[in-house]
Amino acid sequence: EKIHTPFDAIGEETLNRLVDAFYRRVGNDPLLAPIFPDDLTETARKQKQFLTQYLGGPALYTSEHGHPMLRARHIPFEITETRAKAWLACMNDAMDEVGLEGPLRKDFFSRLVLTAQHMINTPENQS
Ligand code: HEM
Repeated sequence: EKIHTPFDAIGEETLNRLVDAFYRRVGNDPLLAPIFPDDLTETARKQKQFLTQYLGGPALYTSEHGHPMLRARHIPFEITETRAKAWLACMNDAMDEVGLEGPLRKDFFSRLVLTAQHMINTPENQS
């Protein structure tokens, strides 16, 4: 009996297109671009690995990079509530672009909202 995960439902191809659409927006976002590398190729590759496992697919991120420890890995960057909102807006627009819809999108996005909130590490007036 096959166990269906959100990863199975979205599919690798759509997930890859989503991540590419997302980082295209991040690279053009005036609040986000300054804290990201100019070349987002490697960032996108890691994010594809991470989101694959986040959605119940194979643990690609962990097998290459170890435990995600996402909050710790974000400490070097000043993440304000405004930046978290900008990150989520880029993701929302990327989901529109790739045509991700319905409960799958809603559940995925809700989890990202919680994870993004958890990454906030800097008060608004410090960035
Ligand atoms: C890496 C910013 C939220 C997953 C990064 C990097 C930055 C960043 C600047 C480093 C990029 C690089 O050097 O390649 C932000 C901001 C967020 C946010 C401003 C707003 C809240 C999230 C969320 C997730 C996530 C919600 C997961 C759902 C990752 C992953 C990496 C990463 C997997 C790669 C870590 C590694 O180097 O192995 N993020 N991030 N981020 N972020 Fe975020």
